[in-house]
Amino acid sequence: MTTLATFTSRAIQISQHGGPEQLTLVQQPVGEPGPGQIRIRHHAVGLNFIDVYQRSGLYPAAMPLSLGMEGAGVIEAVGPGVTHLEVGDRAAYASAPPGSYCDLRVMPAQCVCKLPDAISFDTGAAMMLKGLTVQYLLKRTLPQGGLHAGDFVLFHAAAGGVGLIACQWARALGLQLIGTAGSDAKCALAKAHGAAHVINYATDDFRARVREITGGAGVKVVYDSVGRDTWDGSLDCLAPFGLMASFGNASGPVPAFAPGLLGPKGSLYVTRQTLFTHISSRESTQAMADDLFGVVLSGQVHIRIDQRFALEDVQAAHRALEARQTTGCTILTL
Ligand SMILES: NC(=O)c1ccc[n+]([C@@H]2O[C@H](COP(=O)([O-])OP(=O)(O)OC[C@H]3O[C@@H](n4cnc5c(N)ncnc54)[C@H](OP(=O)(O)O)[C@@H]3O)[C@@H](O)[C@H]2O)c1
Repeated sequence: MTTLATFTSRAIQISQHGGPEQLTLVQQPVGEPGPGQIRIRHHAVGLNFIDVYQRSGLYPAAMPLSLGMEGAGVIEAVGPGVTHLEVGDRAAYASAPPGSYCDLRVMPAQCVCKLPDAISFDTGAAMMLKGLTVQYLLKRTLPQGGLHAGDFVLFHAAAGGVGLIACQWARALGLQLIGTAGSDAKCALAKAHGAAHVINYATDDFRARVREITGGAGVKVVYDSVGRDTWDGSLDCLAPFGLMASFGNASGPVPAFAPGLLGPKGSLYVTRQTLFTHISSRESTQAMADDLFGVVLSGQVHIRIDQRFALEDVQAAHRALEARQTTGCTILTL
């Protein structure tokens, strides 16, 4: 339980679902952390597509709603029972509840991890939600028999925040990632970051190209965060017993489908994954974060921040993300 307010902080809130114009800068009280909580002063905040779903109402929530699921900063106060963090620690997180678009907040400590000294606050803020997502996708969301060096996977929106991390991490694992993106320039970016093959799905039929690239065999997994626009085509890209891993809805939610169609397409598996199941305990969160920190510190994965917006310009940040104008990660500066 948060006690009496001792500070105030700028924060971005909505009072009803809708477009970017709903995003409003407010001052909010910030108190002392209760049991299991910390107070963190942000140095940077990450922008994610889930923020758009929460703002638009695709993921409905009670109002008013403070937005943002990712940030990095310094621990200012630690509540009873928190043993893994101390006052003064550099830290970063991807975590519910939303509310990271602010200078200062009190929040549950469970998903907040110490940030290695060699990783900047900007990088920490950009990489936690997207990097932990790639960790669980490539390491924990696997087809029967797992993934092995040389295997083909298809990854949509490969030039985005999650996408460019996935391209690099897949290369480090020896996977042949086929990346799709909505322009030739984005395809070139995905290729430069480790995609073995790229497809401009705005101009090319990605099903046909995947069949060509894989010699007709198809891929072992499709990692699909685009949703409505790619769902049907993605199922046609899979090898027999392949795994359709749906994890987002950038183009809109996947419509209802009949499981019966999975049989004739090759006894396919389908899963809908969310990061929040994977980071539901302190232990799993830290293990995944350690894996992520490892690939970043080793240089195998570079966190590319292509857009920076001041907190008060958050409306422009949302517009750019929704209009497919961004590549790599986007952060809000404070
Ligand atoms: N389930 C989870 O655990 C989880 C966690 C993190 C992220 N995600 C999902 O992963 C995806 C990527 O997240 P991100 O924050 O890194 O965003 P992002 O990939 O940087 O941006 C989304 C991209 O999706 C593509 N897209 C395709 N159709 C679109 C449309 N109609 N409108 C807007 N974009 C469209 C665009 O790339 P092109 O122009 O190249 O098509 C766009 O740049 C999102 O769907 C997000 O919800 C899921």
